[in-house]
Amino acid sequence: MNNFIARELRDHILTITLTRAAKRNALTSAMYDDLSQALEEAEIDPEVRVILLQADGDNFTAGNDIPDFIEHSTAPGASEPAAFRFVRNLGAASKPIVAAVQGNAVGVGATLLLHCDLVYLADNARLVAPFVNLALVPEAASSWLMPLRIGHVRAYAMFALGEPIDATTALQAGLANAVVPVAEVRGRAAAAASALARQSVGALAATKHLMRERSTIAARIEEERTFFLERLKSPEALAAFEAFTARASKATS
Ligand code: COA
Repeated sequence: MNNFIARELRDHILTITLTRAAKRNALTSAMYDDLSQALEEAEIDPEVRVILLQADGDNFTAGNDIPDFIEHSTAPGASEPAAFRFVRNLGAASKPIVAAVQGNAVGVGATLLLHCDLVYLADNARLVAPFVNLALVPEAASSWLMPLRIGHVRAYAMFALGEPIDATTALQAGLANAVVPVAEVRGRAAAAASALARQSVGALAATKHLMRERSTIAARIEEERTFFLERLKSPEALAAFEAFTARASKATS
């Protein structure tokens, strides 16, 4: 894989690393495709018992790469955003997923954590889901999972006002297992992944099956998709994307 997604399989743990630190690991369509493929292959590879998600640099991910997203998803006749295949795969995953998160986890960077079974946050982690700021709606079944996890009003403030959640608050709210110093976050997540890899594969699969309402998640992803695609065509969403592009080109000029 060469689209800023690194994969390594060792001791039954598939480590997937976002390696686009210079762009804050903003996710392009090609990156989503690689992530989707990695999850699809992991699902059927008996050598993979645990998936560990991590990211290089100071930030977990800035979410969708906005210029790439505009190019691939807003043109007339464009296919659905590549992110949808990724979130469907996440929602359907039968193997445990562990995440190590430092810095900003924006958009799908925050919502994907709802599909992880163990989450370790660096003390500088910041979860942001500014969907309404971009005139969009929540995705990855987060419109159901986030209020379920942290309560309606906190989830609503995240989505509708773009209010970030810091690491300590995320821990208290049940979004993470532990908050550790940045230098320790990968090690802590890797240790947890190793512990899972030594457990009974069948018992882990059955436990995840019992704990995740996969059909509800899948249905909610499709419902969100309908609204998301509708919103994408709205003048407000196009204006929000243009504002980002204008800011970005001003910063580089
Ligand atoms: N899409 C495309 N490029 C992005 C990006 C995104 N979502 N987020 C950051 N980048 C790029 C910037 O354009 C910049 O590129 P350049 O160095 O070529 O100018 C580089 O990454 C660094 O970004 P910068 O904003 O200077 O980094 P920062 O460390 O000050 O802030 C963030 C980090 C994540 C807080 C900030 O980049 C941000 O808010 N990004 C947008 C997040 C967003 O709205 N995502 C959409 C969610 S659906």
